[in-house]
Amino acid sequence: MINIPKGTKDVLPANAVKWQFIEAVARVTAEGYGYREIRTPVFEHTELFLRGVGETTDVVGKEMYTFLDKGGRSVTLRPEGTAGVARAFIENGLQGGVLPFKAYYLISAFRYERPQAGRLREFHQFGAELYGSASPIADAETISFADAFLKNLGLRKVSLRINSIGCKECRKRYHEALKEYFRPHLAEMCPDCNARFDKNPMRIIDCKVEGCKKFTAGAPRMLDFLCDECRAHFEEVKRLLDEAGVAFTVDPSIVRGLDYYSRTVFEFVSDAAGAQGTVLGGGRYDGLLEQMDAKPTPAVGFAAGIERLLMVLEAEGAELPETAGVDCYLAGMDEPSRRKAFLLADELRRAGFACEVDLMDRSVKAQFKYADKTGARFVAVIGENELKEGAAEVKDMQNSSSERVKFGELAQYIEGRYEEE
Ligand code: HAM
Repeated sequence: MINIPKGTKDVLPANAVKWQFIEAVARVTAEGYGYREIRTPVFEHTELFLRGVGETTDVVGKEMYTFLDKGGRSVTLRPEGTAGVARAFIENGLQGGVLPFKAYYLISAFRYERPQAGRLREFHQFGAELYGSASPIADAETISFADAFLKNLGLRKVSLRINSIGCKECRKRYHEALKEYFRPHLAEMCPDCNARFDKNPMRIIDCKVEGCKKFTAGAPRMLDFLCDECRAHFEEVKRLLDEAGVAFTVDPSIVRGLDYYSRTVFEFVSDAAGAQGTVLGGGRYDGLLEQMDAKPTPAVGFAAGIERLLMVLEAEGAELPETAGVDCYLAGMDEPSRRKAFLLADELRRAGFACEVDLMDRSVKAQFKYADKTGARFVAVIGENELKEGAAEVKDMQNSSSERVKFGELAQYIEGRYEEE
């Protein structure tokens, strides 16, 4: 027996309906904000993520599924969606098109992480990206979109935390301050933090190593180093969120795990998700396109983890759809009846009703049991008499009433019963 790879999961038919629910809510919410779907490849040139996501991040430094293809090219399974969408936006000449460009995606993503509840090696994201607007209204609209998505799913106990990590200019001063602060403690900090110290000291704040946390707690805060423009931008985002009734707290410890962010960053967090509390994260990333050698273009976006959303929905006891049964199960008492059931089922399907017939040679009693288990709404029984009469005995499983219905009128009958409801 070959088992499923560590950190991956099957979604079985009984559960798929919950995924479809989340995906449907994602699509409807996205379209309400003017987003349309984008689909990009599962793998990209490794270079894209090195440049896009950043070499000092854990995602790129430790977690990428990178391999040489048969042509000797280094390719990587996407660890997230933003870099691929940015590449598609540039490569398809959309920078010269109508702006803002707004696109959403439902994707699988891959990170070689240590698996635990809510942390997988193959996981799924609903994400959204907006290009072309530097306005704080775009930040507020993106956050309001994320908030609406979570509320539309039925989540009630998720809280929003926001921060500003400034622009390239104000971050220079901040990096100096961080270096000054961390320098005396470096010998006691982990090797990763020592490497981060030179390359990207802000990343130290995100360190999960216990021994480093006692130093990061008292580190200078980016918010105290914002330049006038970044400060004004952040103030306006907060004002807009207040006015829109989107509740948030400012959390200076949010720096995000990917390098492309600037100014506004945000995370939606739930206690119900255990250690992996962030269900949705995002922010502004005005520098990414320039870093990819394209015309500088402001951008903002977010992504939510579908598996984590499911965990939190279940922990909150939110109402989730169950797999629906077919409209009609057609039971046959003998061979000729089974054959007729097969033909009638096809007619009903063409009329738009989901049907099943016996494929297991079961007794009529066992067929009834099966129909009940799978949640069929109607069961139409056909035997020798029914064949002669040209009518089936149709039982409504909701109220146990039953009626004789001519073969040619089955679709009409079912339709009529549904209309009565
Ligand atoms: P991220 O914070 O790395 O951001 O991931 C977004 C969400 O994906 C997380 O909040 C979490 O719910 C889920 N997630 C991440 N890693 C895993 C994992 N190993 N297992 C299960 N779920 C996971 C991004 O990916 C950015 N691209 C978001 C973004 C879009 N920023 C701007 N635009």
